[in-house]
Amino acid sequence: MIDLAGKHIVLGLSGGIACYKAAELCRSLIKQGATVQVVMTEAAEQFITAVTLQALSGRPVFTSQWDARTSGGVDNNMPHINLSREADAILIAPASADFMAKLLHGRADDLLSLMCLARPLDKVPLILAPAMNREMWAHPATQRNVEQLRADGTMVLDVGAGDQACGETGDGRMLEPEELQYELVRFFTPKVLAGQHVLISAGPTYEAIDPVRGITNLSSGKMGFAIARAAHEAGAHVTLVAGPVALPTPRGVGRINVKSALNMQKSLHLLAQTATVFISAAAVADWRPAVPASQKIKKDGSGQPPAMAFVENPDILAEIASGARARSGLLYCVGFAAESQDLLAQAQKKRERKGVPLLVGNIGPDTFGQDENALLLVDAQGSTDLPRADKLHLARQLVAEIARRLPA
Ligand code: C5P
Repeated sequence: MIDLAGKHIVLGLSGGIACYKAAELCRSLIKQGATVQVVMTEAAEQFITAVTLQALSGRPVFTSQWDARTSGGVDNNMPHINLSREADAILIAPASADFMAKLLHGRADDLLSLMCLARPLDKVPLILAPAMNREMWAHPATQRNVEQLRADGTMVLDVGAGDQACGETGDGRMLEPEELQYELVRFFTPKVLAGQHVLISAGPTYEAIDPVRGITNLSSGKMGFAIARAAHEAGAHVTLVAGPVALPTPRGVGRINVKSALNMQKSLHLLAQTATVFISAAAVADWRPAVPASQKIKKDGSGQPPAMAFVENPDILAEIASGARARSGLLYCVGFAAESQDLLAQAQKKRERKGVPLLVGNIGPDTFGQDENALLLVDAQGSTDLPRADKLHLARQLVAEIARRLPA
């Protein structure tokens, strides 16, 4: 998906070993459809050359305020003005401790800091991706600067933790290029779910038969994980309760791993107390073995399979929706229905039966394990088709549809 189409990003590099990641970042922003204008400080040039970034961005790189080349299509020898005027955002990655201290004081003795100071505050947002040694990051001076920069309206991203180039381990690593790209996409996403706490269930459940065997299903969790990402992009606080899947947790999303339907029920009931939206995308097993064996069930040589009794699992969504109605609708519930035919009729029936305002129908074999899906949204007013597309694309549409339906 092209997430940054039409966006013009000024990518600023100050000095730090994380400059090597800026090359990958530049490339991935362009892959996402953005145009990128690189501006580097003298210190950044110690770590990576302008040649590399010019080749990746397809534009001349600017490093000096005295550079007389045409900038932003203008020939006035003022790159500090021209370069920022066409930007949708300035992203400084890496932002060194020294560069942040400079910005804080409004100093402007090189092109990058000059350009940041000269940018129209109300039109061109400034985003910083700090990168430094853990002691430098933890230093009260740096923390004070971060706080003041935020108060001044600059978006200062968090830092990663782990091994540092200096050999030490701790906080201060620059976020990875894909995390920075995500932050930019999120930055540009309208915050239609700001202030909401969205609870999402995703993936299959696993019902144990004995310690080594169980019953599960083909749900991949991809749709629920995509919804979690889209809800976070839209400004929500998001908690994901996931059955056994191997998917990475979307950035910024809280995750609780569960196994069985009963585990999932317990977590969801607890979290539903404080959530404002619940989206039940998990494929919960309908039945579970009544009494899982405590030891592995062995063949007894008789040729007869073991007898197995099942009990029905609780309908978690119906329970939570009924609790929500009792709390006079503090929680907006959305269900999913995976069907094999008659999608509209089945989804309407399921919406009534589960007691939810919105039910999302999809065809099971067309979605399980796949990267694409098609959705049919059914509510009291009628139905809306979201045609087949990438799951993240559908998740973003679904989030917008849910936001429109939330009580004021
Ligand atoms: O009844 P069915 O499984 O088709 O309903 C699907 C919807 O109900 C999904 O939103 C699913 O997450 C939820 N569900 C549930 N607990 C169950 C079965 C399904 O919450 N035991």
